[in-house]
Amino acid sequence: MSKRPNVQVCSDKAKISAVSTKFIAAASNAATKDHGAFYVAISGGSLPKLIAPGLITAAKEKHVDFSKWHMFFVDERFVPLKHEDNNFRACHEALLSKVPIPPAQIYPMDTTLDTVEAAATAYEKKLATVVKTKTDEGRPKLDLVMLGMGPDGHTASLFPGHPLLRETKRFVSSLKDSPKPPGSRVTLTMPAINSAEKVMFVAAGASKAPVLPVAVGKCEDKIPASQVTGLRREILWVVDTPAASKM
Ligand code: 6PG
Repeated sequence: MSKRPNVQVCSDKAKISAVSTKFIAAASNAATKDHGAFYVAISGGSLPKLIAPGLITAAKEKHVDFSKWHMFFVDERFVPLKHEDNNFRACHEALLSKVPIPPAQIYPMDTTLDTVEAAATAYEKKLATVVKTKTDEGRPKLDLVMLGMGPDGHTASLFPGHPLLRETKRFVSSLKDSPKPPGSRVTLTMPAINSAEKVMFVAAGASKAPVLPVAVGKCEDKIPASQVTGLRREILWVVDTPAASKM
């Protein structure tokens, strides 16, 4: 049985940002000290805006060496970069344009390729090439994956009952039938997420309350977020009071 995740219940958005930043900064400093880089992946949705304020302050106060960051994306909707649904655009607007990560160290999923599957294949190669820390099997080992969770318990673009949840080899895959529009997406898979050193979930709002106990392993049901496990590593849940109301 993997360790029970650490759940931090926050009274407001400022607290969510402060708790997230503390965890991210510690992960960044540990990774930079260990191997001179911080390989991190970020989700779309509400997460970028929720974590941004603390990280922007950390940049101003130089508590974090962003020059060592290599920013990947957990998933991407297969829409043009400037489309309102594009995760890279949203993350760039909320955070990446406001902290000093070298632009060459930010790796958007390429939605200009002919097919969503081609984009997934290209991203799997990018991940394997850039990330120098490896698992025992020689696969790219991210230092931190930052995830959200939908009201149905999905995370990344891995949805309840979807065949992608049974992927055991590929680290990046694609789907065309996302129940959350847009339908075509590229996503990290469970093997990629579960290979990471640390995982942080950010979940806010009452709509997450029914699934949060399941996601953190308080009952036997299974939803995608509860498949994010790890015997030895840290999994932190940063949630607000409404999301934690059924814990
Ligand atoms: C996406 C996101 C997705 C998100 C959840 C939660 O591209 O849609 O990566 O996995 O994290 O849907 O979204 P909210 O935090 O906005 O509820």
